[in-house]
Parts: sequence; C-alpha cells; structure tokens
Amino acid sequence: MTKKFVRYIPDRPVDAVPVVGLKIDDATCGDLPAVADLIAQRERNDPASHLQYLKAQIGEGPDSCQIFIVRVEQELVAYARISRHHYPDLPAGWYLTGLVIADDQQRRGIGRAVTEHRLHWLRSRSDFDQIDQLYYFASSRNDASRDLHARLGFTEIERNISVPGCTFEDGIGILYSLPLNGRH
Ligand SMILES: CC(C)(COP(=O)(O)OP(=O)(O)OC[C@H]1O[C@@H](n2cnc3c(N)ncnc32)[C@H](O)[C@@H]1OP(=O)(O)O)[C@@H](O)C(=O)NCCC(=O)NCCS
Repeated sequence: MTKKFVRYIPDRPVDAVPVVGLKIDDATCGDLPAVADLIAQRERNDPASHLQYLKAQIGEGPDSCQIFIVRVEQELVAYARISRHHYPDLPAGWYLTGLVIADDQQRRGIGRAVTEHRLHWLRSRSDFDQIDQLYYFASSRNDASRDLHARLGFTEIERNISVPGCTFEDGIGILYSLPLNGRH
C-alpha cells in the first residue's frame, strides 16, 4: 500500500492560515483509537495494527516513548511521537517518529510546532545532558517532511538505511541528526 506524501510546495501558500492558540497535549490511552484512525487514513490501511503498536509504545512509558496530539475544535488533527530505539545498524538513541497532520490542517504550522514541542520535551528530561543527538529518518521522496526538519537544524548523516517495519516506498531511507550537546 503506497503511503501518501504531500505535494511539495516550497513556497508557503498565500492562503495558509496558521492555527491560533495551538495546544499540544500528551496522548492518553483514550486518544489512541483516534490516532490510529489518523495514521490509517494517511497510509490507507486498517487502524487495528496501528492501535496495537501505539498501545505497546505508550505502555513502555516516557523513558521509551512519548506521544503527543493536537486538537482543533475538539477534533484530533495531529499526532507525533518521540521514542528511544535500538535499531540494527543505526545509532541507538531518541528518534522523532510518526508525525501525521490531517490533510485539511496541513501548512498551518502544526507540524513545526509539534516537532519543536518534542524538542522541548527532550530538553526538559533530567538525563538531557547525556543525550548528544536526536535522530529522524524519512523517505527521500518526502520533501515536505525533510524541509520541515532541515529548518530545525537536522542534517543528513546516512543514506539507504533500513528500519525494521518501515518501507520508504519508491524512495530510499535517509537518516538525519540534530546535535544537541546539552545546549539546545
Ligand atoms: C509533512 C507534514 C508533517 C508537514 O506538516 P504541516 O503541519 O503541514 O507543516 P507546517 O505547516 O508546520 O510547515 C512547516 C514547514 O515544513 C515545510 N513544509 C510543510 N509542508 C510542505 C509542503 N507541502 N511542501 C513543501 N514544504 C512543506 C515548509 O518548510 C514549512 O514551512 P513554511 O510553511 O513556512 O514554508 C504533513 O504534510 C503531513 O502530515 N504529511 C503526511 C505524513 C508525513 O509525511 N509525515 C512525516 C513522516 S517523516
């Protein structure tokens, strides 16, 4: 099943309206069915496996994973994760994962805000001074996501990566990192 990458529009559309008073919350177990639906809409598949995975992730607790959600007028419109991984052949550490914004809420600043929020969350951890890098990976086809992260300081460190359970569709997987050095 082909994932949906958004159309790449480098210049911000003139009719893009930023969300005012955006609020980002920690997801609770009760939010996970709506999150699974959001992911399934993007991936055009069944939410059940997403729900199972999300429950397992949230069950591991904040030393392994934190899930964030955004609601606009009561409706869940975005989600993102930050999670600690030990993928084979990739650096062990914290990864930004799972960013999805509902189609009709894109280009309103939510993706950037929820990504900055995850950075703040990491910085506020008591063990932050021991975290040198934050990682993120994307398909080479996902130019919108790559631009979003590049603007926050992520730079490419490896191409043609493999991540268990992740396909990069017609593109290749690219690993990025953001040096933290305890100063960000
Ligand atoms: C990629 C995605 C997360 C961006 O979220 P968003 O809330 O629309 O992004 P923002 O409004 O915060 O935009 C921040 C920056 O990202 C880049 N960007 C976002 N959408 C873009 C697009 N369609 N084309 C080009 N650049 C884009 C721009 O640099 C933008 O800054 P600007 O609007 O000032 O030009 C969203 O389109 C999405 O959910 N896509 C499908 C799921 C996905 O690909 N997730 C990433 C997995 S790695």
